[in-house]
Amino acid sequence: MKKNFVSLAIAGAFLALGSQAAMAAPDWAKAGKSTIHVFHPGAAPIEWIQGKGEHSGASGLKKGETCAGCHIEDGKLSLDTKRLVSKELEPKGAPKTATYPVTVQAAYDASNLYVRLTFKAPAGGFDKSDKDNEVKATVMFPNDKVPLGEQAGCWAACHEDSKGMPKGKDKTKHVSAGAMDLMQWKSSGKSVDGFVADKRNMEGGKAGATAEGAKAGDTYTVTFTRKLAGNAVLAPGKAVPFGIAIHADNAGGRFHHVSFGHTIGLGADGDVKAAKQ
Ligand code: HEC
Repeated sequence: MKKNFVSLAIAGAFLALGSQAAMAAPDWAKAGKSTIHVFHPGAAPIEWIQGKGEHSGASGLKKGETCAGCHIEDGKLSLDTKRLVSKELEPKGAPKTATYPVTVQAAYDASNLYVRLTFKAPAGGFDKSDKDNEVKATVMFPNDKVPLGEQAGCWAACHEDSKGMPKGKDKTKHVSAGAMDLMQWKSSGKSVDGFVADKRNMEGGKAGATAEGAKAGDTYTVTFTRKLAGNAVLAPGKAVPFGIAIHADNAGGRFHHVSFGHTIGLGADGDVKAAKQ
């Protein structure tokens, strides 16, 4: 008798949660669509990007230009993807597909930001070390204290001494000041609410991030919900920097396809425009 009551109560709580989530979810048909091209970054950490001689963008970066400002023209990548998969920048081995498009949508309300990614994850990966997850999708938001956060997006956390890099040791993604909110969806069904500070933390995030995803045919649709509050505080009327990364075909570690740093405008201009719903 008691047991029944408890399970009913739990079922009721789940129902309530479910319908609340359904009510809060934005109407995606009303949200605009932006295309962001993700690409295999090779082993080109922020130190390489800042190093004069090897990367002629280094001086422009110092002057305050963004990666996207130089590397995206008319919404298309201006990047030598053959070089990214060559021995110079990728000593280990590269996925067969160097770059592919991701459709990004966003919306917000009084307490949350919603981000939806739609993409076809390519096969032909090189590193297939994540046996549990065919696909993982990650979004990061650097706060305003992260050095180069606004210009470089996720790249501000990608260092040459990180695990998996040619000169790397046992460090994970890290930033020297500030923090990045990290939210991740795993195709095994889990989601991560984490952050990157002096190291990567896959739990204990401040943005209360959750993620849901599904595959229909060959297309993945992943929806993230995060609070406007977090390490990066999102304010209506402003654009916030963010970046995305997708691990396709069971890829692990640095063998993801990533974006440059972009912006989501909350009721403001941005690479992705989020309207209030
Ligand atoms: C002022 C313009 C400018 C900025 C800012 C800039 N780059 Fe570049 N980048 C270039 C140019 C030009 C090249 C190609 C020639 C070279 O390697 O110097 C290049 C090359 C690259 C390459 C190697 C692939 C290729 O096309 O040769 C990568 C990777 C790269 N940039 C990443 C970045 C990232 C990440 C950022 C931001 C953190 C960034 N760049 C900022 C101009 C820029």
